[in-house]
Amino acid sequence: MSYRYLPDNLVLSIEVIDNDHDRLFGLLDMLNMSIADRDVNGLHFILNDVADYVRFHFSREEAGLTACGYAALDGHLDEHERLREQVRGLMDDLERNPATFDEARLNEIQAFFREWLDHHIAVVDMAYRDAMLASPEALEEMQKFSFAGDA
Ligand SMILES: [Fe+2]
Repeated sequence: MSYRYLPDNLVLSIEVIDNDHDRLFGLLDMLNMSIADRDVNGLHFILNDVADYVRFHFSREEAGLTACGYAALDGHLDEHERLREQVRGLMDDLERNPATFDEARLNEIQAFFREWLDHHIAVVDMAYRDAMLASPEALEEMQKFSFAGDA
């Protein structure tokens, strides 16, 4: 299956997760547009949306990983926590020192998200693929989540 934003090589063939990842790449696209427009206000809004959806997606994925008894769960949780912290730090900084968000910094942020997502999905998420696909409980657990922003 092909997705609108998610690159084909990052498709896990776990629909609920792939849909989330596609949505994250879609948000990244919007982030890149506000960066290209040097729109720091827009960046603030979109970064907020990215942070909300990342939190939601991580909760869903973590519930699935727990349900399938994934052996490397702790390492995966650590990676998620690190990103949550980085996004929090970035948002705090944007709040306090918006003037430091110059062209170079915005380009760095763009590259950071893209590299993080690419690496995380290709390596860290790909590692749980088989365990999760083999677990109907995990898939069922993850279906129970719905994003508050969609209500
Ligand atoms: Fe993950």
